[in-house]
Amino acid sequence: MDDLSYISEPTQIAGIAEMSKGLNFGMPSEALLGCLLKTLVASKPEGRFLELGTGTGIATAWLLSGMDAASSLVSVDTDLNFQAVAKAVLGSDKRVTFRLEDGLTFLLSQKAHTFDMVFADAMPGKYEGLNDALKVVKVGGFYVIDDMLPQPNWPEGHAARIPVLLERLSKHPDFTLLPLVWSSGVAIAVRQR
Ligand SMILES: C[S@@+](CC[C@H](N)C(=O)[O-])C[C@H]1O[C@@H](n2cnc3c(N)ncnc32)[C@H](O)[C@@H]1O
Repeated sequence: MDDLSYISEPTQIAGIAEMSKGLNFGMPSEALLGCLLKTLVASKPEGRFLELGTGTGIATAWLLSGMDAASSLVSVDTDLNFQAVAKAVLGSDKRVTFRLEDGLTFLLSQKAHTFDMVFADAMPGKYEGLNDALKVVKVGGFYVIDDMLPQPNWPEGHAARIPVLLERLSKHPDFTLLPLVWSSGVAIAVRQR
């Protein structure tokens, strides 16, 4: 099976790629991961979703493409220039709210068990404040991370953080974990209680 042959990218991704030229943004989410995110949010009608790390909006576009009309998405980033691309291309979609804010600050302002999925694609909510990100996931909701397999842009010493993070998730008493050696390396944790 050639999985990429059966995946259609959201139409807005070409526009995001065009507008991102010159921004030196080297961290866009892969199409396989995007398709997974789309599939997961499609399983939660009227869902409330959180993306930590908007970047230029590639994963945001995938998320929106799977969400029904009654769902909503909050996407958080600290970089004005990256998020400006996402806002320009996707901002007319009333289901998404962009927040220019530190991811951990945002998480700390949220109530427990209020999101059907958290896609944690920034340091906060993943390597810092993991428990704060897990706390906001509803029972039956998803916590999703990627880049668990070696990436060319990893800083020195980053590789050692991967098994620590996966160990914490796999031992968490309230979540069940699916680690996937697939795409950039994905882990999906589902809150059971
Ligand atoms: C891996 S990229 C996100 C890629 C994005 N999901 C996409 O599909 O293009 C990580 C993002 O996290 C953002 N970031 C860095 N520090 C942050 C923080 N403290 N809080 C929120 N976002 C942060 C960066 O600006 C960057 O856009």
